[in-house]
Amino acid sequence: MLKNKTIKNLPTHIGIIMDGNGRWATNQGLPRNMGHKEGINAVDRTIDALIKLKVKFVTFFAFSTENWKRSKDEIDGIFNLTREYLKTKKDKFINRGIKLTTIGELSKFPKDLQNELTSMKKETKNNDKIIVNLALNYGGRNEIVRAVNNIIASGKQTVSEEEFATYLDTTSIPDPDFIIRTSGEERVSNFMLYQMAYSEFYFPSVLWPDFNERHLRKALKVYSKRKRRFGGIK
Ligand code: FPP
Repeated sequence: MLKNKTIKNLPTHIGIIMDGNGRWATNQGLPRNMGHKEGINAVDRTIDALIKLKVKFVTFFAFSTENWKRSKDEIDGIFNLTREYLKTKKDKFINRGIKLTTIGELSKFPKDLQNELTSMKKETKNNDKIIVNLALNYGGRNEIVRAVNNIIASGKQTVSEEEFATYLDTTSIPDPDFIIRTSGEERVSNFMLYQMAYSEFYFPSVLWPDFNERHLRKALKVYSKRKRRFGGIK
């Protein structure tokens, strides 16, 4: 049992690029989807740890606009696991004060999954212990282009930065303070491109299915020592 020692200067919003599920499975001689299955367990563990630490917002990059390039088997597997996760954890989300939100173009997802997400978002909309935001069929470029097209459709000629941000999927969510990408890869991969302007980054080598509270605390300690300047002077 880890001691709940307080960590100072916690981020308000953490973005997580969960990488390494496939490698984790291959390392164990298992099919890739077993890595995603363990990956979902890591998501659930991370939510519990973040509630304990009192972090308010977390975004998990669960399915990118580029993930459609994977095999049908793998994509169906990810959808099935997501479906199962939502069904089995619905009561937990409702009763533990977890609010579910999503970003990305859900309309391309299977209808029943869309319905499950809509219903869970509705049932948890007044929760405020933690906001769990799932990026699903999400890509930063896709989000920006959709925003631009919506601005054009609205007939506006110009918008301010603040106004532009209201056209993004993240209207009710602050920019991520801290972005963690597991598995040692140091890439952004189309995640929250507009919102990450002043995010701090951290790239631990642990594969996502192995990520636990100890890794999270270590990451948060690293963040707590960062001097954020937002372009200003020290
Ligand atoms: C990256 O590992 C992981 C993904 C592309 C998908 C992860 C999705 C989930 C765990 C489902 C999330 C669902 C909910 C409800 C949060 P990779 O396959 O790219 O790993 P590799 O680089 O080792 O191949």
